[in-house]
Amino acid sequence: MEYKGRLTYAKGTYMEFVVAPNQQVDFGDILVVEGNNGDRFYIRAYDFKVKSRWSGMNNVGYLMSKLNEDGQVENQEELDFYLGGNHTVKIGMAEQLCYADGQGHLYNPKTCPDFFCEVRGLSADDSELLSEIKGDLELGFLKSGREVLELPVGIYGSKAITEHIGIFGTTGSGKSNLVKVLAGSVLSNASYGLLIFDVHNEYYRDLSKYPHIKERLVVYNTNPVADYARSLSLDYSTVGPDDILACATFTEPQLDALYKLSSVWKENWMRDVLAYDTQDIIDDLNASTGQKFQQRTISKIKSICWNLQEELQIGDNEANSVKNMVKDLTQGKVVLVELKDLSPQAEQALSTMLSQRLLCDYASRNEQERLESKPVLIVLEEAHRFLGKKEHASNNVFARLVSEARKFNLGLCVVDQQPRLLADKVLSQLNTLFILGLASKADRNKLEAMCRKDILQQRNEIKNLDCGEMIVATNYMRFAAPVKVHKFETFVNSLS
Ligand SMILES: Nc1ncnc2c1ncn2[C@@H]1O[C@H](COP(=O)(O)OP(=O)(O)O)[C@@H](O)[C@H]1O
Ligand SMILES: [Mg+2]
Repeated sequence: MEYKGRLTYAKGTYMEFVVAPNQQVDFGDILVVEGNNGDRFYIRAYDFKVKSRWSGMNNVGYLMSKLNEDGQVENQEELDFYLGGNHTVKIGMAEQLCYADGQGHLYNPKTCPDFFCEVRGLSADDSELLSEIKGDLELGFLKSGREVLELPVGIYGSKAITEHIGIFGTTGSGKSNLVKVLAGSVLSNASYGLLIFDVHNEYYRDLSKYPHIKERLVVYNTNPVADYARSLSLDYSTVGPDDILACATFTEPQLDALYKLSSVWKENWMRDVLAYDTQDIIDDLNASTGQKFQQRTISKIKSICWNLQEELQIGDNEANSVKNMVKDLTQGKVVLVELKDLSPQAEQALSTMLSQRLLCDYASRNEQERLESKPVLIVLEEAHRFLGKKEHASNNVFARLVSEARKFNLGLCVVDQQPRLLADKVLSQLNTLFILGLASKADRNKLEAMCRKDILQQRNEIKNLDCGEMIVATNYMRFAAPVKVHKFETFVNSLS
């Protein structure tokens, strides 16, 4: 255990300690103050001041008199004589994070340590604190100032998944690597399902290095060319009006017609829209609803349905891969849906459709069935496309997932480079945040404004995060922890 210094002042949760000579303490260091009876106070250094017996005004004046007219040192030797010896101390200023009693229980700050108690670095021995931040899905190692400690940090899936997760960082900050590490931990844990919409088809290549890949990872593609991917065959009955809405903007009459079509023709409305002439559709809707829709309205719907049918190969497909996909997830597998070669419209429709099926399936479960199925996390990249201010207002499936999924044992992991584009209602529902480097001040401000105060205290650290470094803040952890995320290629070798 590294000795760091001694406590010199405490008031409430604020503390000061003198840094021992030749010891290094950095901004952001997490340290331990040893109290009496085995008590431990966990603190974070956030500022420093340097003090000397020369600090008083008179003494400074005396030292100044040893300088020349321009304030430059004329006689270094003489100055060294005055400044030498142990007259100068570095005082660390810290905030108490939490407190452990001698029996190994962790509490929010309750009291403060005594004068001149020992301050030391964190070690593997600090198990109360470490077990809380370790979680069952490991993501990286705890950072303390400029050091990376070999102490694992992660999240507890059972607590974090259904409370929703946000991963934010500029391009190149390490978001995809973090999702891979998360997927690797989910794969080895096998207690959670993970559905990843893989926009760049970037995950399989890395995840395939994982040992038990055959049993635990399933890859879908609407048009599989590689042999590792299964075909995602979609049936007309899988497509609802909301999925069509996800891929274009519609006028009021078009919206109205779309919902009327699906309510009049039920399950297979899409097949019928494609099979009948525009005029026949207008006549049929007129007969059943009394409304007369325009040619243009119906042909727009027809055209979008046609595009989707072609691109996603929707048809009368007996083999229902969507059902299988949902089953895989409930059994705790990782499912990748590769979307790279799809148009933005098809990609958005497909993500919406599959999430919708999953939500319906989980929502229809009774208490017992729910206990038997694993919590599932849906990873959504560039999430503002679905959960921006405008999109959220349309109450699409992702907006519903964010507000309701908790009770169904589902959760959303929102990944974005620009959190400020997300609706406030979405941000406020994300109870676990992984904040990677964010270049834009507007984005950092947005997160600070939406989040709890412990993130505010770390605004300097957030500003200076390097690639692969993040701040983890989650509602069950007592403080936000700085983490060096594992590099997936290295991490995968340690998994079994
Ligand atoms: N934790 C990490 N440790 C080491 N290198 C990392 C880490 N995270 C990311 N990188 C590297 O940084 C680069 C960008 O990471 P990536 O995850 O693709 O960022 P993003 O998805 O945010 O654009 C990659 O080359 C990756 O290998
Ligand atoms: Mg990426």
